[in-house]
Amino acid sequence: MSEPIIAQKSPYAVELEPGNYFWCKCGKSANQPYCDGSHKGTDFAPVKITLDEPKKVFLCGCKHSANAPYCDGTHNKLD
Ligand code: FES
Ligand code: FES
Repeated sequence: MSEPIIAQKSPYAVELEPGNYFWCKCGKSANQPYCDGSHKGTDFAPVKITLDEPKKVFLCGCKHSANAPYCDGTHNKLD
């Protein structure tokens, strides 16, 4: 498995409305933190997020969280 690209070493704090979202796992999307299809040809696929009510979330920007798509603080340990 190849390494994801670090989009940024901090989470994206976003207020999301109910609905479906696709978090970018590969780090290549130009539309962070969401998938824009750029993972094509890599080992990665986006992670679907489904919300039933509005919610503020912290989406991982470093792509190394063990609790993806959410930030778990791992970005603090990256070089
Ligand atoms: Fe990164 Fe789709 S562009 S997972
Ligand atoms: Fe990836 Fe925090 S931004 S773990």
